[in-house]
Amino acid sequence: MTTPVKTSVPIRAWWYSDIWVFPKLITVITTLDGEGRINAAPYSHIMQYDVMAANPRMIAGFRQDSHTFKNIVETGEFVVNCPPASMLDDMMETARFYPSGVNELDHTKFTTIPSTKVKPPTIAECPQIAECTVEEIVRLDKSSGIVIAKVEALLFDEGLAEMSRFDRIKAMDLPIGLGDESRADYFHAVDYTVTTHALGEAPNSVRGSAIELSMPWDDDAIQALMTIPPGVRKMVTDMTEAVAAEAGSPTVTLAIMNKLQEDAGMTPDMMDRFRKKE
Ligand SMILES: Cc1cc2nc3c(=O)[nH]c(=O)nc-3n(C[C@H](O)[C@H](O)[C@H](O)COP(=O)(O)O)c2cc1C
Repeated sequence: MTTPVKTSVPIRAWWYSDIWVFPKLITVITTLDGEGRINAAPYSHIMQYDVMAANPRMIAGFRQDSHTFKNIVETGEFVVNCPPASMLDDMMETARFYPSGVNELDHTKFTTIPSTKVKPPTIAECPQIAECTVEEIVRLDKSSGIVIAKVEALLFDEGLAEMSRFDRIKAMDLPIGLGDESRADYFHAVDYTVTTHALGEAPNSVRGSAIELSMPWDDDAIQALMTIPPGVRKMVTDMTEAVAAEAGSPTVTLAIMNKLQEDAGMTPDMMDRFRKKE
């Protein structure tokens, strides 16, 4: 294969919209304004945040003059609805610049049902939903409003949660956002081929082989460490040793490990999720 020649392009405002291809989640966010009126609009600048802590959150970026951002600032609540590919036209309808107070969903085939923990409604046709409350708002100067939100509830259409990831991906049929051209034409991937790739073991992370310890560990603690999936074992080793050192303990004990895992939300049930399903 010949090495491709790289061309440098100008880095401009909205560079990701300009040229960069950034596959993203497509969502329709529902909010209520101060008078309790529903607003809905698509948002893709949304991502999981601080995923390893006991209180997982989401981070989202909004135009500060958007109805959605103003409503979130006013009410502290929003719902992230992930529409299926079959409803992309309806999703695009909610992107129109309707005046404030207009419920964009009235112009679509979307219907609403009550949410479980927050007041803005859930879109019934969306298979994957997150109900959120605001934890922190950062107003970037002359730019986006960044919302860090607590995930109050995650809801899925019946049957989806029990499926393997492969089957769930297919059943949900979520479109992938591929950006826009001139803020006029929006590109999406639908009916895509899903491939899976096994994560290989690094030579030093195979169960039973030596792991680098920087202080003594009790046998119990070592045994517990070996039950941690290889992919996160090094991280847990480092975190546990840091906690032991901070506590002035010369040895890593099972009690220290348990405490750390509990604080970080790494319950046995949670750790089990990282073990390979046969
Ligand atoms: C697929 C898609 C994704 C979008 N993602 C964002 C986003 O992440 N942030 C943003 O500020 N606007 C985004 N927009 C634009 C808003 O949806 C649009 O400005 C909308 O009119 C805002 O409505 P609102 O004022 O009711 O909140 C997106 C639009 C589309 C079609």
